Amino acid sequence: MLATAGSAIGLGNVWKFPYMAGEGGGSAFVLVYLACAGLVGVPLMMTEIMLGRRSQCNPVNAMARLAREAGSSARWSAVGAMGIFTGVLILSFYSVVAGWMLDYLVRCVTGGLDGITAEQAQARFAGFLADPRRLLVWHSVFIAMTVIVVARGVTQGLERANMIMMPALGAILIVLLGYGAVEGNMGRAAKFMFSPDFSKITPSVVLSAMGQAFFTLSLGMGAVMTYGSYLQRGVSIARTTFAVAAADTIVALLAGLAIFSIVFAHGLAPASGPGLVMQTLPIAFGNMPGGRVAGALFFLLVTFAAWTSSISLLEPATAWLAENTRLSRVQSSLTTAGPAWLLGIAVALSFSDWKGFSVFGLGIFDLLDYLTSNILLPLGGLLIAAFAGWVMREAHESDELGLNALAFGAWRFTVRYFSPVAIILIFLNVTGLLPRFG
Ligand code: TRP
Repeated sequence: MLATAGSAIGLGNVWKFPYMAGEGGGSAFVLVYLACAGLVGVPLMMTEIMLGRRSQCNPVNAMARLAREAGSSARWSAVGAMGIFTGVLILSFYSVVAGWMLDYLVRCVTGGLDGITAEQAQARFAGFLADPRRLLVWHSVFIAMTVIVVARGVTQGLERANMIMMPALGAILIVLLGYGAVEGNMGRAAKFMFSPDFSKITPSVVLSAMGQAFFTLSLGMGAVMTYGSYLQRGVSIARTTFAVAAADTIVALLAGLAIFSIVFAHGLAPASGPGLVMQTLPIAFGNMPGGRVAGALFFLLVTFAAWTSSISLLEPATAWLAENTRLSRVQSSLTTAGPAWLLGIAVALSFSDWKGFSVFGLGIFDLLDYLTSNILLPLGGLLIAAFAGWVMREAHESDELGLNALAFGAWRFTVRYFSPVAIILIFLNVTGLLPRFG
C-alpha cells in the first residue's frame, strides 16, 4: 500500500494538477477530475491491483497468463507491452520536471530565492528553461536516482521512508496554505477551484481531466498492476485503493489551493502552463519568515515524492526484462532507463534550442505529456477494464477482491460498461466525431 501511495503521490499532484486546473478553467476541470478519479479511477485501481496480485508477475506476462487462464488469447499481453512503453515515455519528461525541483532545492538552500518578486520568479524560471545544460544535469541525476533503486529491486527502505515523507509533505503544504491565507488571495483561489462553472466544461477539458485522473493515480500502464503483484494476499484491495486515492486527491487539492492563492494575490495568470508551480511557490518561500528552510524542505519532499513515483514508471519495464531475459536487474534497469534518458534530453532541449520543432502544434514536451496522459493511459485503462469486465472469470475476480455482493456488482458494472463507455465517449467527443457536449 505504501508503495502504491508513493507511486500515486508525486509531481502529478504538486506540479501537474495545478497547472492543468489553471488551463482547464479551474472548477470545471476540478469537478470533472474528481468525477473521473472516483468513478473511473478507483474501480480501475482495484482492477489493476487485482490483476497483478492474481498473476504475480509483470504486466506483459500478467495479461498473457490471465488471458490464458480465462481461455482467451495471449495477445492481451500487448496491453502490458503498451504500458511498459508508456511508462518509459512518461519517465522521460517526468525526470526533467523532477530536475526542476532539484534545482530549486539548491536555489532555496543557497538563498537564491530570498526576497524574490513575482516578475523575478517568472524571469528566473524562463532563464532556467533557456539553459539546457543545467536541465540536463538534473535530469541525469534524477534518472540515476531512479535506476539505483530499481536496480536493487527491493524498494523497502524507500517505502518505509514514505511513512515520514508523505505526512511531512502534507504538513508543509499546510504551511503554504497558511501563507496563502495570510499573504495570498485564498478566497479567490477557493472560488476559482470549487465554485461550479459548467460553461467552461468543454470536450478537451473533460479529456484532460480524465487524463489527469489516470496520471495522478498511476493508472493505465501497469504500474499499479506490478505493485499489486507484490501485495500480500489477505490485504484488502478496496481499502488500499480508497486510502491511496483519498490521500492523492487531498495532496493535489492542497497544492492547488496554495498555488492559486499566490497566483491571484500577484495578478499572475492561472493558465501559465507547466511552469506555474515554479513561478508561484518561490514567491512564498522567498518572502515568508523561515522561507529558506520551508522551501528547501518542500522541494526536498517533492523530489522524494517524484522519486517514489518514477520508480513505478521504470519498474514494470525492468521486471518484464528481468523476468523474461537473462539480463540481471541491474542490466534490465539500465536498458529500460536508457531510452527514457535519451528522450529526456530532447525534452530538455525542447525549451530552448529545439523550441521550433513541433508536431501537431505541440513541442516535444507538450506532445509527450499529451500523448501519454490523454491518449495512452486512458486507452490502457479502457483495455484493462474491458479485460476484467469481459474476459476474466467472475469467480476469480470475486475471490481476489473479496467484496460483498453489492460492492462487487458495482465494481463489475463499472469495469464492464461504465468505464469503457465513458472513455470511448470522451475520446470520440474530443475528436468531434460526436455532437459536442458542453
Ligand atoms: N502518479 C505519479 C504522479 O502523480 C506519476 C506516475 C507514477 C504515473 N507512475 C505512473 C503516472 C504510472 C501514470 C502511470 O506524479
